[in-house]
Amino acid sequence: MNDFVFSQSKQNIMRIDILTLFPEMFNGPFSESMIKRAVDKGIAEIHIHNIRDYSKNKHKRVDDYAYGPGAGMVMTIQPVADCINKLMSERRYDAVIYTTPDGERLEQPRANHLSTLNNLIILCGHYKGVDERIREKYVTMELSIGDYVLTGGELAAMVISDSIIRLIPGVLSDETSALSDSFQNGLLSPPVYTRPAEYDGMKVPDILLCGDDKKIEEWRLEEAIKRTKERRPELLDDDQ
Ligand code: ADE
Repeated sequence: MNDFVFSQSKQNIMRIDILTLFPEMFNGPFSESMIKRAVDKGIAEIHIHNIRDYSKNKHKRVDDYAYGPGAGMVMTIQPVADCINKLMSERRYDAVIYTTPDGERLEQPRANHLSTLNNLIILCGHYKGVDERIREKYVTMELSIGDYVLTGGELAAMVISDSIIRLIPGVLSDETSALSDSFQNGLLSPPVYTRPAEYDGMKVPDILLCGDDKKIEEWRLEEAIKRTKERRPELLDDDQ
């Protein structure tokens, strides 16, 4: 087995085990930026498992034809079940997530909740998906990242992991900045500006230069509401 690990520490931290047919895809995104920082600080551990390594088929096959007419391959049970069983024999998992376009849409409250858990498995779907019996027996949460179809669940697993890990205290340098993200208060974020105060005739709004933090916070809230009304009015519906 050559499962590879993005990890620095063995404390009580967020551990994500990702089961995939394309492990190399994770190298870039997980070796950079926020996720790298979380791993380097020992706040998160990510273990990538190549499902093919668990196949008992002599050609290491991991898929087969779907029963019934029509084209399409399905991920077989055995390698996925063996990998999950191995992991489950080593520790208790809080959730087994399957990435699939027919899952529930990932929204901020779900990411918030997942960031409070410790051990997660993410199974990346591929082809026409995994044999339904895997979903019935092991999967506790099915997540989609949007109403479009990707080539596989790997990009979705990266999105899910990123959305969770950045919320863990200590990952972002400014501890409060995750709280002021779009969606955290049900609103889109207000516009932001930095120096210079004027560029090519374009000025920063005067209020941001007034020095009165309370007034600036009020302005930000007004702008956030305005932006949400314009771009995502459905977020303001009470029965959301
Ligand atoms: N696999 C393929 N498309 C997907 C999507 N939109 N979300 C999650 N997993 C997927």
